[in-house]
Amino acid sequence: MSWQTRPATQLPEWPDPDALSEACSELSILPPLVFAGEARTLTRSLQAVAEGRAFVLQAGDCAESFAELTADLIRDKLKVILQMAVILTYGSGVPVVKIGRIAGQFAKPRSSATERVGDVEMPSFRGHIVNDDAPVPSGRVPDPRRMVRAYHHSAATLNLLRAFTKGGFADLSQVHAWNQEFVASSAEGRQYEVIAGEIDRALRFMRACGIDLSAGATIQQVDFFTSHEALLLDYEEALTRRDSLTGQWYDCSAHMLWIGERTRDPDGAHVDFLSGVHNPIGVKLGPTTTPDEAVALCERLNPDRIPGRLTLITRLGVSQVTTLLPPLLRAVTNAGHPVVWECDPMHGNTFTSAGGQKTRHFDDVLGEIRGFFAVHRAEGTWPGGVHVELTGDDVTECLGGVEDILEEHLPLRYTTTCDPRLNARQSIDLAFKVAELLRG
Ligand code: PEP
Ligand code: CO
Repeated sequence: MSWQTRPATQLPEWPDPDALSEACSELSILPPLVFAGEARTLTRSLQAVAEGRAFVLQAGDCAESFAELTADLIRDKLKVILQMAVILTYGSGVPVVKIGRIAGQFAKPRSSATERVGDVEMPSFRGHIVNDDAPVPSGRVPDPRRMVRAYHHSAATLNLLRAFTKGGFADLSQVHAWNQEFVASSAEGRQYEVIAGEIDRALRFMRACGIDLSAGATIQQVDFFTSHEALLLDYEEALTRRDSLTGQWYDCSAHMLWIGERTRDPDGAHVDFLSGVHNPIGVKLGPTTTPDEAVALCERLNPDRIPGRLTLITRLGVSQVTTLLPPLLRAVTNAGHPVVWECDPMHGNTFTSAGGQKTRHFDDVLGEIRGFFAVHRAEGTWPGGVHVELTGDDVTECLGGVEDILEEHLPLRYTTTCDPRLNARQSIDLAFKVAELLRG
């Protein structure tokens, strides 16, 4: 494929080319993880977002871990995303498109190819699809067989997600059951219970009016889509299939794929690869993005200007969002490109604590979202969604929030495989605040 002739950054140097081609041939005959028709459904949902009629919530781990494939962890992550979606929908009256950073979010770009641990210099950890996170040089050697493991982990995760979302767990009448105990006892948890109670009442009212809710799959099932950064092009290519219905190519590793801040060169391999598949796609735009680059990416990735095809995910940082976002919005709007604008308030607000942990402050996360909304309101464009790193667990990775996590609390439950995530309480709290912004 043509991406191989383009400059590619962030790809691992696989030491054994035979093992690489073996893994890729194995992947290329395995069943697709998602289907082209599902990806098209997501494009249509995102079209509603591009047109200002819906909101998107994209959320999940920074990096999924091979060591954390348990039903409880997946269920708890899904619970918190469903809770946030209910809060957003109920609070704003706008449909919410739910996309997980899940079932394939295994590859990580790194700012440095090597890292020093104690006295030893070793290759950086690049996600479990490439190498191991333990600081042992032998485990850091890129191993292509990990791509096959990542496929199977994704399949198992997706299987569970499909069972949960289509098998009754996501039924709106279960809205109380999504509130985990440690959340329920908190102020945000009680605020959530109020909404859940009101939804119950509304459902009872509809039933009393003779509306047959059992017949309508819309309240019993939920569309939950998967996404990850399309970083490892060998893996993505091996899972790309031609759709028998339309004859078009789809990357069947996830419904939506995005291009990271470090690989968004309009002439580079990653942009070239994703320009050739028909999934809905995203691109992260960091603070160095020029308006011309943003337009060039739109031209390259969505030349036919299909609404819903392209999501621009800005991650500019709380202190710069109000100055850097307006020129990007204007350039893309004036060029006539119908995009979804999403705010990633995580990656522009990361810093290292005094104790050496990577962290983010809840106030900065919320602050960037506030700035994002303010700019869109001023420019007359639609603040289409948020993109956050979270977990259903009770972790202590991001500072602040209602429980006011302090730097000294970070080591208590700091379990992320990569970047710091909002815990369930911080996530619910954030959803209430975003719902308020959406209403405003
Ligand atoms: C990420 O989403 O985990 C990530 C690495 O983001 P970015 O490419 O925006 O830095
Ligand atoms: Co991250």
